[in-house]
Amino acid sequence: MAVTLVIGAQWGDEGKGKIIDVLSKNADIVVRYHGGNNAGHTIINQYGKFALHLIPAGAFHKQAKVIIANGVVVDPSVLWEEITMLKNAGVSFANRLMVSPNCHLIMPYHKILDRLFEEAKGKGKTGTTGRGIGPVHADKASYNGIQLDDLFDKKNFGEKLKVQLQLKNKILKCFDEKPLDQKEIEKTYFDLFEKLKPFIKEPYTLIQKAIKDKKTIMLEGAQGILLDNNWGTYPFVTASSTVSGNVTAGAGIAPRHLNHIIGVAKAYTTRVGEGPFPTELLNETGELLRQKGGEFGATTGRPRRCGWFDAVLTRFAVELNGITDLAITKLDILDDFEEIKICTGYTYQGQKVDYVGGNANFLAKVKPVFKTMKGWKKSATGITNYKDLPKEAKDYLKTLEKLTGAKISYISTGAKRHEIIKK
Ligand code: GDP
Ligand code: IMO
Ligand code: MG
Repeated sequence: MAVTLVIGAQWGDEGKGKIIDVLSKNADIVVRYHGGNNAGHTIINQYGKFALHLIPAGAFHKQAKVIIANGVVVDPSVLWEEITMLKNAGVSFANRLMVSPNCHLIMPYHKILDRLFEEAKGKGKTGTTGRGIGPVHADKASYNGIQLDDLFDKKNFGEKLKVQLQLKNKILKCFDEKPLDQKEIEKTYFDLFEKLKPFIKEPYTLIQKAIKDKKTIMLEGAQGILLDNNWGTYPFVTASSTVSGNVTAGAGIAPRHLNHIIGVAKAYTTRVGEGPFPTELLNETGELLRQKGGEFGATTGRPRRCGWFDAVLTRFAVELNGITDLAITKLDILDDFEEIKICTGYTYQGQKVDYVGGNANFLAKVKPVFKTMKGWKKSATGITNYKDLPKEAKDYLKTLEKLTGAKISYISTGAKRHEIIKK
């Protein structure tokens, strides 16, 4: 009945997985359309607790067709592990999972190059997830990529791999790395291909028909707006575009078909990896947010950096992406705070400044201006009715709405599926 896009409105890990799981209840189709297994989307429902890296978070709703569209980069071993893990948990994919043959493959050399580039950059590193995401996109952009489709013809795959190994092994040699072996890679990828083959089908026709038939489609963004490679804090970003418009390239859905664009934001802010973060709390309060919020990466287990809600950045995300609704997650984590701060603006050398998207150097120099709100010091955990929220929590949310310029339509009060307020 509607096409809904869910994107991260901060630096990733906003709780997109939880929101998508909730909103996909009646979905006919759920789609991942960009990024790869750098994503880690946590879902807690009747099947258990999962951190999904490639399979869309809406996949637990068995009526839904599950699509990994063209824009996703695929590590076939991670995909197979995830299919198997979910099958063992009671979520089967027979006749409902479609992975586009156009998806680019993450190859063993991508992961090695990811590590080598990071090591070479030392202090200037991005702090990637180490999954080969930058290098696979670089190969895609420079016409050196290998796609899932190439595996249907072993000879063709072998030829493409041979060229790439000629190039990549030269680079590896410069870094004193062992060269990669063609036969070994072929065996691994051909074995995985045999397992994945039933799921490799182009989803384009199904998606277009679903749009015509006015079906319910849920589109799952990965990462977050501030990790976008045009508008985020470059070079501390990811390799795919995270803005709402990239759904057109990644899933083949024209912009005019989007009915809702939901931005997910935590009630505070986190970031994992390097890069500027104006509201970061490098003190006990930051540590408290990390411990209470369980702020450790779903993909790498790294501790996440924590800080107050930055309304400047989320307002930017709202504007840039045409966000129609916000989903605020982890409100419960603020339950015990005496005072809660919100960044309402920045100053630079004592002068008020506005955020200019895409400029990491600038963002590293600004000072946040805070508004202090009274905490509620009561439990908001698990509340499902807006009227039951403590007054101070409502005041906090109303202030976020005002500052970000977007309607808050969902408030998540716990990690489990049912712990949500729909306004
Ligand atoms: P994603 O990448 O955007 O899907 O987010 P992650 O799964 O990486 O990180 C979000 C974390 O917060 C996960 O551990 C979720 O289980 C958890 N979470 C999501 N919403 C809530 C909430 O409202 N309250 C609490 N306490 N945890 C939440
Ligand atoms: P989800 O979908 C948070 C960050 C990395 C690093 C930068 C580049 O779970 O919200 P990459 O491996 O993509 O080359 O790393 O981007 N990053 C994420 N941070 N959540 C994510 O995904 C992320 N995916 C990548 O930490 O700073
Ligand atoms: Mg995550």
